Amino acid sequence: MGKIRFIKTESSKAKPDQKKLGFGRYFTDHMFVMNYDEGQGWHDPRIIPYGPFELEPSAMVFHYAQEVFEGLKAYRRADGGIQLFRPIENIRRMNRSCERLSIPVIDEDIFMEALLELVRIEQDWIPSEPDTSLYIRPFVIATEPHVGVHASKSYIFSIITCPVGAYYPEGLNPVKIYVESRDVRAVRGGTGAAKTGGNYAASLRAGETAEKAGFSQVLWLDGIERKYIEEVGSMNVLFKIDGEIVTPPLGGSILPGITRDSCLHILRHWGLPVSERPLAVDELFEAAENGKLEEAFGSGTAAVISPIGTIVYGDKTEIIGGGKIGPLSAKLYDYLTGIQWGRIEDPFNWTVRVV
Ligand code: COI
Repeated sequence: MGKIRFIKTESSKAKPDQKKLGFGRYFTDHMFVMNYDEGQGWHDPRIIPYGPFELEPSAMVFHYAQEVFEGLKAYRRADGGIQLFRPIENIRRMNRSCERLSIPVIDEDIFMEALLELVRIEQDWIPSEPDTSLYIRPFVIATEPHVGVHASKSYIFSIITCPVGAYYPEGLNPVKIYVESRDVRAVRGGTGAAKTGGNYAASLRAGETAEKAGFSQVLWLDGIERKYIEEVGSMNVLFKIDGEIVTPPLGGSILPGITRDSCLHILRHWGLPVSERPLAVDELFEAAENGKLEEAFGSGTAAVISPIGTIVYGDKTEIIGGGKIGPLSAKLYDYLTGIQWGRIEDPFNWTVRVV
């Protein structure tokens, strides 16, 4: 098994009911762990029984949030095979996040080997019910016991996995969102393009407020002019306006989503007009008022595509596509998930077989 040590658990856990998985609540028997120490680099890659870390209360991650993470899935094909979707993109994005957070980058080959080996070991945990998968969560935390503000001299890189169903209880039913006017998620020059916990922590207050008011998510505006649309909840956002698919450009404050990239690639492959350009919230509402806002959806690994049915901005409310999933959103969802679960041919070479 290459350089990765393996210590097998002595007590496998009972598997949860595949019909009641929800998202991110059950964890499998094993996890990958590798340490970094100054002078030694990344060392001691191992797959060990899933369990707690022992960390000092002074470990830097607790104080300055020096951490990054990723999210990808292993899919069970109808023929029994198992595959990952564009894992190299997650590996590269995590290293870009590391670079932004002053965390030492991880060798791509050992990262890939860790993903493949862990999924192989945990393959019995990969559910087979429709729309279920094994969510894979790689992450790095700063572990040096020191409360001075500087980059940590030691880290843990770990990968945990969990069998999951739909991310949002709504599934593919369109959600209700409103335009957030108080909080912003990120600013250019900040950490918005990195997948780091602080961005998500900063989004929680708006998300909670929205939920209390009966909404699923908020639509984030840029942090400078409070004018341009950035993301929706924890997802990228795409709109179909007068026949054209429009999504905000990756300007440093937006997460470069792998599902976003895959959607754009597929839409262009289908010969549809796609534009990555700043989209002002006023332009969006004007399009909606003129009947030109045809479809809207969030894109992310966890939910794949999450259609938006109602959008509220101050005292304005717009219903998109009669509050139903749009035909293009549905076609895109079917095609992308078809590739991910191996139901249709993958013309882009995106999938990586594990077994
Ligand atoms: C996604 O995959 O869409 C996300 O970013 C959500 C994740 C943080 C659970």
